[in-house]
Amino acid sequence: MITYKHFTLKVLHIAPECSPLAKKGGLGDVIGTLPKALKKQNIDARVLLPAWPGVIEKAAKIGKLNKEPLGKISVALNWRAYTASVLEADIGGLHVYLLDQPELFSDPNIYPERLDQETILPFVFLSFASFELPKLNGWKPQFLHSHDWTTAPVSAALRWHRYYSSFNEDYDTVFTIHNLAFQGIINHSVLDGWGFCPDAYSNLDSDSMEFFGQLNVMKGAITTSEAFTTVSPSYSWDIQTPNGGLGLDGVIVANRDKLRGIINGIDYDVWNPETDCFIPSNYSLKNMSGKEECRKALLKECGWKDDGRPLLIFVGRLTEQKGVDMMTQALKSLLAKKVRCVIVGSGNDMYTRKITEFEKENPDSVHATLEFNEDMAHLTYAGGDILLMPSLFEPCGLSQLIAFAYGTIPVARATGGLADTVIDADGSTDGTGFLFTDYTPSELRKAIERALEAKKDNEKWNSIVKNAMSADFSWDNSAKAYAELYRDILTSD
Ligand code: GLC
Repeated sequence: MITYKHFTLKVLHIAPECSPLAKKGGLGDVIGTLPKALKKQNIDARVLLPAWPGVIEKAAKIGKLNKEPLGKISVALNWRAYTASVLEADIGGLHVYLLDQPELFSDPNIYPERLDQETILPFVFLSFASFELPKLNGWKPQFLHSHDWTTAPVSAALRWHRYYSSFNEDYDTVFTIHNLAFQGIINHSVLDGWGFCPDAYSNLDSDSMEFFGQLNVMKGAITTSEAFTTVSPSYSWDIQTPNGGLGLDGVIVANRDKLRGIINGIDYDVWNPETDCFIPSNYSLKNMSGKEECRKALLKECGWKDDGRPLLIFVGRLTEQKGVDMMTQALKSLLAKKVRCVIVGSGNDMYTRKITEFEKENPDSVHATLEFNEDMAHLTYAGGDILLMPSLFEPCGLSQLIAFAYGTIPVARATGGLADTVIDADGSTDGTGFLFTDYTPSELRKAIERALEAKKDNEKWNSIVKNAMSADFSWDNSAKAYAELYRDILTSD
């Protein structure tokens, strides 16, 4: 293990998701993979995760779980003590601490429908537990690295909490924004019960968590952490604009000296068509015949006969962010004759209803799996021809990176991480996909048409597939960038 200034670098990642134990979206993938990649940079990175229903059982099944708890920790919230048992597990080389507190961590959906004084408590507890953990086993990180609004109270507490502010000198903090759309906005009356001083909420201090008369916990992490990051360089610029900043652009611009954009990677141990055990036939750039087998299997799964129409796929959360409405509008005129579309993803009722309707109207052209289904996701990436990713905004996006690996070519909106990772094939011989700029169905449609044209030209298509499959978005590069950030913070201390 490398030592900086004569000590080993230790980092605790704090988050409500960590794949494969608990996952709702891309955040889970990042937390399940980044710490392992940091280990290769000689950084002892571990994870603090709530034991949501089923997590302990899953840890015992797929990893090594120490059944004997490390001990108990207590956190005072709303004038009472909440106590959790801490369990330790090794999940394929990932060192995880699990907080067993069934009263707070009872929601299998992880995120509440509505944020209020009660529903926010699990996340505040998780955040404060990071200060209590070292008291149990003596493993004391120099860095507390929190992710998204749910763990934003970590660095805010080091500034404003009546007790935890006394730990301020013990830690450096890094805060990563995976999605600025969720900021943790709530009535400020909760602060007293969390143990925060009145300074935490003051419209005289632009660093405080006051936000248009409400409390904004994400704002607190942006102003108080030693550094904050976004999950792609372009997104770090997007959020400095009134459109992308969602009310926080002014705060972000004022703190931009400590902002970095570090692109996510994907886990090629999981997403590799050569070794993937979820797909019926493996393949690689050297031998692509397996992709055709996967295509056939996907058609069969959809109950369709092959009529030669290209298979467009969408794999992701069904939310406004992902451009679902625009996608269905753009597809309307293309279906029937030109393409078919396979959709895999979960989302809120409104979107699942819309997609179910869309499928009913086009039984021979649209197939939807409206749940997070790992088998179907792998088969769809492998069997599809073109991935649609018309996001309104995209902090990084993982689907396009996975699609590259499976030789499935993205048609994506040039925003955030999509703009950073997809190269337009009509503008460059290094092209890996097709980009469009304006968020309109007709622009998306034009980009799909360009992809369909390219697909008719075997030589061109094969070279795009080759570029995509050779692209390297492994975590090693991202981990190096995080290691450099930690080091920069230490040397500037
Ligand atoms: C969020 C973002 C997505 C990003 C992921 C992981 O889900 O919406 O763009 O890839 O977090 O950082």
